[in-house]
Amino acid sequence: MKSVELRNISHTFASGRSGRGLPDLKVLDQIDLAIEPGWFTAFIGPSGAGKSTLFNVITGLIKPDQGQVLVSGEQVTGKTGHVAYMPQKDLLLPWRNVIRNATAGLEALGTPVAEAAERAQEMLGLFGLEGFNEAYPGTLSGGMRQRVALLRTVLLDKPVLALDEPFGALDALTRRQMQLWLAELRTRLGKTILFITHDIEEALFLSDEIVVLSNRPARILRRFTVPEGIGSMDDLLFIKTRKELLDSLKEAERP
Ligand SMILES: Nc1ncnc2c1ncn2[C@@H]1O[C@H](COP(=O)(O)OP(=O)(O)OP(=O)(O)O)[C@@H](O)[C@H]1O
Ligand SMILES: [Mg+2]
Repeated sequence: MKSVELRNISHTFASGRSGRGLPDLKVLDQIDLAIEPGWFTAFIGPSGAGKSTLFNVITGLIKPDQGQVLVSGEQVTGKTGHVAYMPQKDLLLPWRNVIRNATAGLEALGTPVAEAAERAQEMLGLFGLEGFNEAYPGTLSGGMRQRVALLRTVLLDKPVLALDEPFGALDALTRRQMQLWLAELRTRLGKTILFITHDIEEALFLSDEIVVLSNRPARILRRFTVPEGIGSMDDLLFIKTRKELLDSLKEAERP
């Protein structure tokens, strides 16, 4: 059975009744995709294409005008609670410490605080946050803050994680460290991961497959399976695959 299936998803944002005569905005155009359990799939495409909107559809926050979303074979179109989501701007609550930020998602689902805190505590080491239980977000590094937000998402304990540019705001060095860390973490978690990024190298390094989306309205332009043993940046296969991806991104950016 597929982990996530998107069947012919289209979506248009209505301009509303603002009376300003703005046109409707078609954002998603007939997206069809089936993702294998345990795969790491990166989504890449121009800014404003509709990537975050697609994730809002997958996680059930937006009900698309057309099409269906299935998770583990179950119809979940427009229903939340089946996919753990880390949105693009996932801000931590500055007045809560690390543990209480990590438990925020579970608490929202009605898990008692003590139980949620215990589960967060068990995972702190895996997220490189050992000893920072009581720290407040303002005192953490950017990478640590992103790991707290990721921990909050992972604690929801869903088979599918949707991460919208989780490392987008980090400097190059921290980003690299986070990529290495996530690569290691994913083998331990064994979850299906959907991941939006603008960074081709990040996508090649982390994922099993890469979906290239077109300019808005987003269509699937190409789907690459990342070759096994692709190696690192100076590897010939890496360079060749990166070139192919860059070419299709150029095509994606064409209006
Ligand atoms: N709730 C909404 N109502 C109306 N328009 C929206 C809404 N959400 C997004 N849009 C519009 O839909 C388009 C796609 O937005 P989206 O956030 O999905 O793009 P994106 O591919 O994630 O971009 P980026 O790479 O910059 O994050 C944009 O033009 C945006 O203005
Ligand atoms: Mg986005």
